[in-house]
Amino acid sequence: SVAPEVVSKIEQGYAKLQGAADCHSLLKKYLTKEVVDELKNKKTKLGATLQDVIQSGVANLDSGVGVYAPDAEAYTLFKPLFDPLIQDYHNGFAPNQKQPNTDLGEGKTSQLVDLDPEGKFINSTRIRCGRSLDGYPFNPCLTEANYLDMEGKVKKVFEGISDSELAGHYYPLDGMTKEVQTQLIKDHFLFKEGDRFLQEANACRYWPKGRGIFHNNQKTFLVWVNEEDHLRIISMQEGGNVGQVLERLIKGVKTIEKQVPFSRDDRLGWLTFCPSNLGTTVRASVHIRLPKISAKPDFKSICDGLKLQIRGIHGEHSDSEGGVYDISNKARLGLTEFEAVKQMYDGVKHLIELEKKA
Ligand code: ADP
Ligand code: ARG
Ligand code: MG
Repeated sequence: SVAPEVVSKIEQGYAKLQGAADCHSLLKKYLTKEVVDELKNKKTKLGATLQDVIQSGVANLDSGVGVYAPDAEAYTLFKPLFDPLIQDYHNGFAPNQKQPNTDLGEGKTSQLVDLDPEGKFINSTRIRCGRSLDGYPFNPCLTEANYLDMEGKVKKVFEGISDSELAGHYYPLDGMTKEVQTQLIKDHFLFKEGDRFLQEANACRYWPKGRGIFHNNQKTFLVWVNEEDHLRIISMQEGGNVGQVLERLIKGVKTIEKQVPFSRDDRLGWLTFCPSNLGTTVRASVHIRLPKISAKPDFKSICDGLKLQIRGIHGEHSDSEGGVYDISNKARLGLTEFEAVKQMYDGVKHLIELEKKA
């Protein structure tokens, strides 16, 4: 059973959220007294509790979501919290709904013609997906040995990539100079360090052990190792050729998945640490200059209506600079991978039309 100190922490967390008038997280919205009482004494086989699920959102009252799943079982054991939250985040994905089969868009990428052939709006395009190695829990439950083990496994896979477009090198964070690390982050290739949402979720233990980045020479195909998810597979390049970016991502995903089994849930699709990434795990984004429409007060609601999410120039929780935004699909669950990319594609196409008219 759950230790009384942990139960009391959960209750204090609930009280803190209730008392925070300026907290608007999905955690606060769905962690009702009934849910607390139903779940506070539950523990997964690996020993994770409701406290592990909610601690980041309790510590960071400015969270948008506020919860993480310490292991795969948490999504079912703590369903009364996760299900309504998932439904809210992912366009109404209901408890009886199922993630469709994977459709990355093979054979369809030519439909996604360059969104900005004249190079007036889009600086760059990026599509990423997350994957979890089958048989390993998520960050808070991983041991130091797990991290090193996982890193060793994927490093071997990277070394075996023979396709000339994808082949490259793995750069562990442990031993990387600060200069190289800072430059890679600044250039949008590498994850940042010290994310307080991840830290408070207990997701940064043993850092930088087991963390790193693989990339090809051109830095158009990259894989993050053990940041928020076990793997983040990324394809990116300058300009607005979404089809080319997707084509490369598909090739990369297929190459890696041949050698590493990933965890997938029948209902939730590809499993990730954060419920916002479940299903396709796809975030397709552009860095786009929209100086006119972004200055209008209804910019956010226009993007909401197009099912798009706005981020700043250095990613999540960063600010825009010079009217440049990171615009991506918001939902990742309840649609196919190709549809997720298409959601970004159609929405951004519309935004460009609005910018031209403004
Ligand atoms: P993710 O959801 O992939 O974790 P983050 O918001 O954490 O994305 O951002 C990770 C990095 O990717 C940041 O440096 C961000 O600026 C960069 N990035 C995201 N989209 C693009 C894009 N279209 N072009 C260039 N860099 C991008
Ligand atoms: N926990 C953070 C928050 O609630 C991030 C949520 C979504 N983003 C992510 N990277 N998983 O704001
Ligand atoms: Mg991120």
